[in-house]
Amino acid sequence: MLRGNDLGTMTTAAPKLYPHMWSWDAAFVTVGLAALSVERAILELDTLLSAQWQNGMIPHIVFANGVDGYFPGPARWEVARLTPNAPTGVDTSGITQPPVHAIAVQRILDHSRRHGRTTRAIADEFLDRRWQNLMRWHRWLATARDPERRGRIRIYHGWESGMDNSPRWDRAYSGIRPGAVPPYERADLNFVTDVSQRPSDLEYDRYLWLVEQMKSVSYDDESMSGVMDFAVEDVFVSAIFALACEVLAEIGEEHSKPKSDVRDLREWAERFRVGVAATADSRSGAARDFDVRSGRWIGTETLAMFAPLLCGGLPRDTERALLRTFEGPRFCGHPDLLFRVPPSTSPVSRDFRPREYWRGPVWPVMTWLFSWAFGQRGWVERSLALRAEGLRQASDGTFAEYFEPFTGEPLGSMQQSWTAAAVLDWLGLP
Ligand code: SER
Repeated sequence: MLRGNDLGTMTTAAPKLYPHMWSWDAAFVTVGLAALSVERAILELDTLLSAQWQNGMIPHIVFANGVDGYFPGPARWEVARLTPNAPTGVDTSGITQPPVHAIAVQRILDHSRRHGRTTRAIADEFLDRRWQNLMRWHRWLATARDPERRGRIRIYHGWESGMDNSPRWDRAYSGIRPGAVPPYERADLNFVTDVSQRPSDLEYDRYLWLVEQMKSVSYDDESMSGVMDFAVEDVFVSAIFALACEVLAEIGEEHSKPKSDVRDLREWAERFRVGVAATADSRSGAARDFDVRSGRWIGTETLAMFAPLLCGGLPRDTERALLRTFEGPRFCGHPDLLFRVPPSTSPVSRDFRPREYWRGPVWPVMTWLFSWAFGQRGWVERSLALRAEGLRQASDGTFAEYFEPFTGEPLGSMQQSWTAAAVLDWLGLP
């Protein structure tokens, strides 16, 4: 399936709905490819990193040359015209996505160790060649996106969370009255014809309005905080960042990268671990996002509440309580779930919609992320249990983007690359 979605130097996120490269999709795809071909996995990250912006940002979409059918495309983002930060020779969007890339680098290096000297040398050469790109990426997040050093990544568009229409963002979006947005036609509904599986038109109006706001300041990092109607500290992205900094620090140490880089990475890991833990309820451990515009905490029963399980930082008892919620009847242990994997929103939440994108369905790649992170944290049994259930779910062979949690109906796009990649990684485990 991944070969089917392969354009040569990039794997599309999905053949029709997402016919380009998405940043966090590409990282997960790399994880899957690494099990098959270290060289092809490296090529995937090379393509992504070649589109990195001058300021260090990895853009959320790298557009495939001459491919139409996705909106908003390059003509709407207009990054090449508006900002000198945009790369030359390749079209990108103007926002970013969760920093899961260090995980992919780790997987490349791990798999290369299973092969002979040639493959190891190729992986090491890749790391040397791209180390500075990775450092610039992390440094940009730690500075431009945490201007007040609160230990939490700030996002200016729901798409930057990767969880576009999660109930997490409802309140922040509800106050936004879109100004003038050039006319547009959604392309997503050409491929997912059941509109109840996708964000609404009103949501799209806001998404496009925020793009116009960014364009009004030419995507300038510093001006953004002054103009954007949407500005939130994303606790889930922050946890991923803490984790990614830790992973990269370990890689750096093992491969004799500059000591000052490793020190910076460890500092960021700690700052963000503390920043994530500081959002958590002292009894339940549930983490919260923060709405910078209204100055209010955002507590939702979504995957975001489990952010501290990814990166650690909670006191022991609180962490136990949060694990009980993750495994209990409000999430993975809900009696009506077809598989014991975490839905994007709790089935007992008022916000739960079982078929609607990030408002309830199960996303296999999130099952993979939790399974991987639990392994990192030393919770082997938990990690393997998620893997077993994730594989059971995948055995329907659709590799769908997301699934209805009770019936197992595949939803969104079929043949979603990162779903296949998650399965490949699971199957490649010893
Ligand atoms: N996930 C978004 C979409 O549906 C964009 O990142 O198009």
